[in-house]
This record gives sequence, C-alpha cells and structure tokens, in this order.
Amino acid sequence: MPVEIDRLLEAAKTCLATEKTPALLMDKRLIKAKYEEFRTHFGQARVYYAVKSNPHPTIVTLLNGLGCDFEISSLGELQRLLSMGIPSPQITVGNPVKDPSLVKLAHDSGIGLTAFDSHSEIEKLAALAPGIRVGVRLTVPNDGSEWPLTKKFGVEADQAVELLVQAKKSGLRPVGIFFHVGSQCTLAGTWAKAIEKSWSVWQRTRKRGVELHMLNLGGGFPATYLKPIPTLGEIAKVIHDSLAAFFPKDTEVSIAPGRGLVGEAGVLAATVMAKAVRDGEQWLYLDVGVFNGLMEAVGGIKYRFVPSRNGPTRKWVLSGPTCDSFDVISNEVELPDLDVGERVYIPSAGAYTTAYASHFDGFPIPAVHFLE
Ligand SMILES: Cc1ncc(COP(=O)(O)O)c(C=O)c1O
Repeated sequence: MPVEIDRLLEAAKTCLATEKTPALLMDKRLIKAKYEEFRTHFGQARVYYAVKSNPHPTIVTLLNGLGCDFEISSLGELQRLLSMGIPSPQITVGNPVKDPSLVKLAHDSGIGLTAFDSHSEIEKLAALAPGIRVGVRLTVPNDGSEWPLTKKFGVEADQAVELLVQAKKSGLRPVGIFFHVGSQCTLAGTWAKAIEKSWSVWQRTRKRGVELHMLNLGGGFPATYLKPIPTLGEIAKVIHDSLAAFFPKDTEVSIAPGRGLVGEAGVLAATVMAKAVRDGEQWLYLDVGVFNGLMEAVGGIKYRFVPSRNGPTRKWVLSGPTCDSFDVISNEVELPDLDVGERVYIPSAGAYTTAYASHFDGFPIPAVHFLE
C-alpha cells in the first residue's frame, strides 16, 4: 500500500473525527503530487483531467492552476467549466455521443476538438459545429481493466477508417484517434496493444488521403485499492516504447486520466447505522452505500474497508443504508464486531464516488472536505 494512502487515512481519522458522515476527505497536496507525476512521465503529452471522475470545483480550480487541461462529456460539465472561467482551448469533449445542445455550446464557445464514432454524429457535428476537429473513438482491448469500457463506445478499425474519410467529406477536420483501455487498467501491455491498433488505422487512413496527427490515449491509469498495480512509470514506459516503435515523433499525444489523478487522494468516512443477522449471515449497515457513493463496488472495484478500531474479525455482508436490496456494497468483508455509531474508512475513494452519488431514499451524499 503506498505510504501516502495510509498517511491520508490517518489524517482522515483526525480531520473528520467530529464531522457528520458520510464524508469524503480530499487531499489537495496528493492531487498536486499525482498531477506532477503525470507531467514527469508524460512530458510532451497534454493532460486532460476527466472531470466526470470528480467534478468538485476545488479540484478543477486546483488542476487549472497547475496548468492541467480538461476532458468533458456533457453540457452540464461544459457549463460548469466555462462558468469557472476555464478557457475553451483547454477543454476537449471526449464523449463520442453528444447531446446537440452540448455540440452547439462547444462550438459557440470555441472548443476545437471532439471524439465521434458514428455517421449520425458526423451529421450532427457538420450541422452544428462545421469545421470542428474530430478524432474517431477506436475500440481497443480492455485486458486487465477492472471497469471495462468496451461495447458502448468505439468502432473497429475498418469502420474507423471509413468514418474519418467521411468526416473529411462532410467538412469536419479529422485529426486523429481517441481510445480508452478501460478504467482501472492493471495491465500496462494493454496500452501497447491499443497503440499498435491505432497505428494500423492511422496508416490506412493516410492511404485514403486523410493525414492524422493526434492520438488521445484516454484514461485507465489505475489507483491502488486492494491489489498491487503497475506504477505510472511502468505504464508510461510501455506507452513511450510503443509510440516510438510506430508513431512519428511530432504526433500530438494526449491522455485523459480521472481515477489515476484523484482516486487515491480521497478517503470516505462512514458510520455503522445498524446490524442484523439474516439466514445466519451477519449484516452491517453503513450510512454510505451503492446509491450515495459506492456505486463502483457493484461494478468491479474492490475497496478496502478500514475499521476505526481493531479486534477479532468475522465475515460481514456490508450494506448501504437504503431500502433497496441492490444496495449491498460487498457480500464478504472481514471486519471486527463494530457497534452502531462506530466508523469505517474507505481509502482510494476520490474518483467516481461523490460524482455518482444520488439522494435516493433521502440519504445524504458525502460532504466533501479538503486537506490543504
Ligand atoms: C472519454 C473518457 N476519457 C477519460 C476517462 C477517464 O478514465 P479513468 O477514470 O479510467 O482515467 C473516461 C472514463 O470513463 C472516459 O470515458
């Protein structure tokens, strides 16, 4: 476990001691350190923060001050950034399926680059954002990803080439390729496969008279939860080696990390609100669950649960507070016999927690606190 995660965990126990739960403590210094780590390993690349992972204004302001760019997907995210004074050249729209209202505002406010992956999107962009620079979203392997993003987005190589050619004919400016290896990708080699596949599209597109110069490697950079993960340096080496093997030196490379930038910088604090025995199983109910912060627990992310006090442990079914039986965080967590009112801390909860949280059933979403 990286030392900074445990240090932040200890800080959360102190800083949130008298705060109501659920609460999320975000460490600004850790976000800054992560951003600098990305900068060190991806010196030439533009770093677009994937706002969806944690859109809190304090995080956007912090990253903007550090020189970071932003990747957005929706009208709401764009309005938020523009209202905060983020200049449009710092923003890209990574979502290949956009609401027309987003396309219109993006165009009107001078955003110059977006992803696409269908004829319908070409028509929409040609009508509402003529001349905009576009990159095709290519389907790539998601091997080793604990939160895969296959199927819903992207096209295979043949279709990618055709779409780029069609985009040019429709008056758009095709400039490159976007891909995403899946979130929480724990196999560095997956980026190498994706880069090689992108190169084949790049060459075939050139043969059809369309010259590309931009490659967006998306997110996928993992955060530490329970299992060891490759370091950013290890992933960056694989990426740089693959780029050097195929792509021209002057290719405009960009990345769009969300989880990798802010995931480890947050600790959630929850309180035990009830306990029960059902069919011989011990149930522990927290005031945070699937609907108000831990949605990813049902989709493949295995969080660490740290009790506020140690003692002999047993297996618990760990549940959220709502009256929905889908609201089960984990069917098997080892924890001591905590009392109602005692706390459980959840490290590496900075990404895709409050961003997903709803007020379903009247339960509050975690209040966000910052460590300077
Ligand atoms: C287009 C795009 N870019 C970047 C990201 C951020 O990915 P991650 O949080 O894995 O870094 C996502 C996540 O869904 C995405 O859809």
